[in-house]
Amino acid sequence: MSRKPLIAANWKMYKTPAEAKAFVDAFLPLVAGHTRDEIALFPSVTSLATVVEAVAGSNVLAGLQNMHYAEEGAYTGETSATMLKAVGATHTLIGHSERRQYFNETDSIVNKKLHTALIHGIVPIVCVGEHLHEREAGLTGSVLLAQLKGALADIKPADASSIVIAYEPVWAIGTGKTATPEMAIGAHMIIRAEIANILDSSVARAIRILYGGSVKPDNATDLLDQDEINGALVGGASLKPDSFASIVKY
Ligand code: PGA
Repeated sequence: MSRKPLIAANWKMYKTPAEAKAFVDAFLPLVAGHTRDEIALFPSVTSLATVVEAVAGSNVLAGLQNMHYAEEGAYTGETSATMLKAVGATHTLIGHSERRQYFNETDSIVNKKLHTALIHGIVPIVCVGEHLHEREAGLTGSVLLAQLKGALADIKPADASSIVIAYEPVWAIGTGKTATPEMAIGAHMIIRAEIANILDSSVARAIRILYGGSVKPDNATDLLDQDEINGALVGGASLKPDSFASIVKY
């Protein structure tokens, strides 16, 4: 199977440009020559240009944590796809649970952003995942289905091959609680089956599904060694070069 894993660092609202540059300077030598996985950093918007410049010519990519769906316009505080690309970034997160929770990002907004990312050739990482009460009520599958149906509405299978899905159970994000490999595999299989239904089975086979939620150096191997888990979206443990490098090189 040719699903090259992607290990992504979501720095959230951490790091000034100087701190981001110091991270990259320390990190690149630690992962030099690493080709098994794609590696991507997602800094804040103010550090994006610095990170793009610092990783140029290396095996590390850069993207943004959020992007607006409109081409341009009166959207105070937002960043467009054209702006993201003009700086040299190639990836964007879409629908992270913190965006859904604190910024009212709905499945329909996620869908609009996904269309815009694909039009612009930006690699989108679409985040989905259930809350604890939903898991406990046996609703994980239906929550994932609703999020995927919403996110993938009117996406054509032929345009979908660059889409990356991140399964991020909300109860595992920033909590130190990690899904077991079995839980993650179960959710990933549900996601892949739904993608086959919504798009088609060849897209479903090819699409990369990452796991996110308290991935750390000491649990990375158990999770990332699974065929069904095609990489990780890492928050807290991605803030230090040695910690993120040891996840990349699990
Ligand atoms: P965490 O965050 O690794 O700190 O749990 C993951 C994420 O929010 O993508």
